[in-house]
Amino acid sequence: MVHKIFDSVHNNLLHWYDQHQRVLPWRAKPGETPNPYYVWLSEVMLQQTTVATVQDYFLRFIARWPTLHHLSKASLDDIYHQWQGLGYYSRAKNLHACALSLSKFPQIPDHPEELIKLPGIGTYTSASIASIAYDYPIIPVDGNITRVMARLIAIATPLPKLKDLVSDLVSPYRPKRSGDFAQSLMDLGATICTPKSPKCDRCPIIANCLAYHQKVQDQIPAKAAKSEKPTRYAYAYWDEDPSQGIAFVRRPAKGLLANLMTLPTSDWVNHEQELPPLDQGQILLDGQIKHVFTHFTLILRCVKQLSHSNYSGMRYPKQSIQNLALPTLMTKLIKHYKIII
Ligand code: ADE
Repeated sequence: MVHKIFDSVHNNLLHWYDQHQRVLPWRAKPGETPNPYYVWLSEVMLQQTTVATVQDYFLRFIARWPTLHHLSKASLDDIYHQWQGLGYYSRAKNLHACALSLSKFPQIPDHPEELIKLPGIGTYTSASIASIAYDYPIIPVDGNITRVMARLIAIATPLPKLKDLVSDLVSPYRPKRSGDFAQSLMDLGATICTPKSPKCDRCPIIANCLAYHQKVQDQIPAKAAKSEKPTRYAYAYWDEDPSQGIAFVRRPAKGLLANLMTLPTSDWVNHEQELPPLDQGQILLDGQIKHVFTHFTLILRCVKQLSHSNYSGMRYPKQSIQNLALPTLMTKLIKHYKIII
């Protein structure tokens, strides 16, 4: 029954896509063959990030590394540096590892089961690469496609369960022109079947949309009860030696902000009162920055080291700091406290 609905929307959606598809730098234009390197790179960048943000990054990456072969020779630090601002740095690390693995294949694999074995590639990304780059008949299910499908067949289940439900429903379906079909669903979700105020009067599949006919399109996807994000607190120590420069540390290779450079910080604690006491040579500067991670919010305050410190790690002169692989959290802090002007 559900597949009958998919069959009846398939032609209308592709017809609409042929006329209205977004022009995106990684996307093949009508009549062109997709470039699997562009598809892979864009799909990794698009995990957790919007199309609007990714476009400039993508163009800079392909200008610097025009092919997978070029990228597979890049250093992790260079990739981190180009990635700066895209967030979720484990993705940059996986991209580097994935480029290395892929350079051993004659071409980027065309089967989701091969793709999913690669670093940082999960169910969604393996399906999106296989369908968009090679027309492998599968539907990748991301947030946009979940919403479009859930409205089309009026599923009241709230997120995040809804996504699994939609995935189960669509997984046996084998669409023709599957890459275009996937991208038509993505474009429909981004431009017409939007989360708020969907533009149903312009929708090419309104005739089949059960949510529209039941007037419940605004209630799908239903919201799950929200759990509060906890707040954590830390100090960042601004420790500057006039001749040697500013103290930095590299974060551990595993975990949050893995491998990136930050000012030394205190432990990240759950209550402000648990922050370590300041010693005589330190002052707490005015202000704070707030950074939202997936599972918590961090409030970071800057402590300036006034007198000689016993820090023995790496120091960098001010003018070289913009070349370090810094996470957004640190660029915000450096700007807020005018650490480099
Ligand atoms: N979101 C994720 N992948 C996308 C793609 N290939 N085109 C447009 N939006 C997307």
